[in-house]
Amino acid sequence: MEPILAMKGITKTFPGVIALSDVSFDLYKGELHALVGENGAGKSTLMKILSGLYKADSGDLILRGEKIVSTGLREMIGHRIGVIYQELNLIPYLSVAENIFIGREPLNRVNGIDWKKMRSMTKELLEPFNLDIDVTQKVCTLGAAYQQIIEIAKALSLKAEILVMDEPTAALTGNEVDKLFDIIAKLKNDGVSIIYISHRLEEVHHLADRITILRDGKHVVTKKRGEMSNDEMVRHMVGRVLEEQYPQYESTPGDPVLEVKNLTKKGICENLSFTARSGEILGFVGLVGAGRTEIMQTIYGYRKKEGGEIFMNGKKVEIRNCQDAVQKGIALIPEERKQQGLILGMSVFDNAALAVLDLYSRTGGILKRSKINAEVNKMIDSMDIKTPSVRQLVKNLSGGNQQKVVLAKWFIRHCDVYIFDEPTRGIDVGAKVEIFRLMQNLALRGAAVVMISSELPEVMNIADRIAVVFEGRIVKEFARGELNEEQVMEYSLGLHEKKHA
Ligand SMILES: Nc1ncnc2c1ncn2[C@@H]1O[C@H](COP(=O)(O)OP(=O)(O)OP(=O)(O)O)[C@@H](O)[C@H]1O
Ligand SMILES: [Mg+2]
Repeated sequence: MEPILAMKGITKTFPGVIALSDVSFDLYKGELHALVGENGAGKSTLMKILSGLYKADSGDLILRGEKIVSTGLREMIGHRIGVIYQELNLIPYLSVAENIFIGREPLNRVNGIDWKKMRSMTKELLEPFNLDIDVTQKVCTLGAAYQQIIEIAKALSLKAEILVMDEPTAALTGNEVDKLFDIIAKLKNDGVSIIYISHRLEEVHHLADRITILRDGKHVVTKKRGEMSNDEMVRHMVGRVLEEQYPQYESTPGDPVLEVKNLTKKGICENLSFTARSGEILGFVGLVGAGRTEIMQTIYGYRKKEGGEIFMNGKKVEIRNCQDAVQKGIALIPEERKQQGLILGMSVFDNAALAVLDLYSRTGGILKRSKINAEVNKMIDSMDIKTPSVRQLVKNLSGGNQQKVVLAKWFIRHCDVYIFDEPTRGIDVGAKVEIFRLMQNLALRGAAVVMISSELPEVMNIADRIAVVFEGRIVKEFARGELNEEQVMEYSLGLHEKKHA
């Protein structure tokens, strides 16, 4: 059988970077071919060449047996290639329905937009996901998970025969992931071919018919599922044996640093209380929509609280905005790096410097550039951030490396409390270990570390104490090892609540 798609000998360079070097990749009808590799390995670049966004320096693209020469985005959509990009591409101030049908809105008899039809078509598309949203709602009012689902629905509506999914589950949790997997199974059944990129290796083992690994822009291996163990996959990805997925450390819980008492904000939380201690990592788990991100944003002054008190090191504090929070020693490292964590058009250096402007400037506002430079380079080394130099613009880094910059910038600044919202989203297996170590080091130097994560195994192995959030309330708190994943899921789903009600 001939593949529906064959990419042969693809090479692509950027100034100072060889993103892809002589890479070949093919795909059969109805197949799911997973593409894996470390941050910066070249996965997204290969897919951007397929989608017509980038032009390869050399190599061939063969579609349904025919060589395709000129490419462009529209042309490739015409070839029935659909791409769900890693970075969300929705327009924040348009509604859900408008985002999905932009440029191809259904028309009524007088050639105006048929809004009613557009809304019902959108509802139909979103139906399998069971989302509780209004399709006329602006996209910017929705969280990352919902936005991701809308991206997926949009790609599905284009009826592609070849569908690229670049980290579709990075922003999703258990329930939505299951729904996506159902949809993937249905698509494959209909003969759709899928290229699937993910750093969640269990997913890859679960879904893939074949797996291809890239490392440093080169093809390493392609094998059928089942012919490659997880250890082998990791070894090919990182080029060495990875000793431990979850590094161990001795926590040293000390005094309360951040105390939240009866925090109340309509629609987000009611009388929520918790304590984060010096020298330990406190994890927050829960489903999408449980309100973990919004709770932290309320503490941080990004949203206005309606009731409750916040104490830092035993003293009551008023946090009116994010600047207040930073000054009081709290860092919040957000989940949506593109909107809140980074300025994409600025360099790695400038982004990192933003977090420490006040600490590293002389009187008169002149920056101590060499000091910051040294700190930034240290982070680039320890986190293995792939960038030609600190002067590279952040928008030119791979998704995972952008995420590392967001983290780096806050690791540089010494704070009393660090709140990490999905710190390992989009981060490869090797770098995850480094990030866990850095978080543990923050705790060891006396900080209180709070982590929100949708990857249950990760929180359950890294956090010293874990709080389960359900509908804006903490329904359970436990020490590491006290409960198993299944029990935690039960609390996340609110099952214990209903029993007591
Ligand atoms: N527009 C660009 N300009 C300069 N360099 C780029 C550009 N796009 C990608 N690169 C570089 O090419 C390399 C491959 O990036 P790519 O985005 O394909 O990685 P990836 O495998 O998708 O990684 P991740 O898992 O982090 O998403 C990286 O070193 C990246 O910095
Ligand atoms: Mg990528």
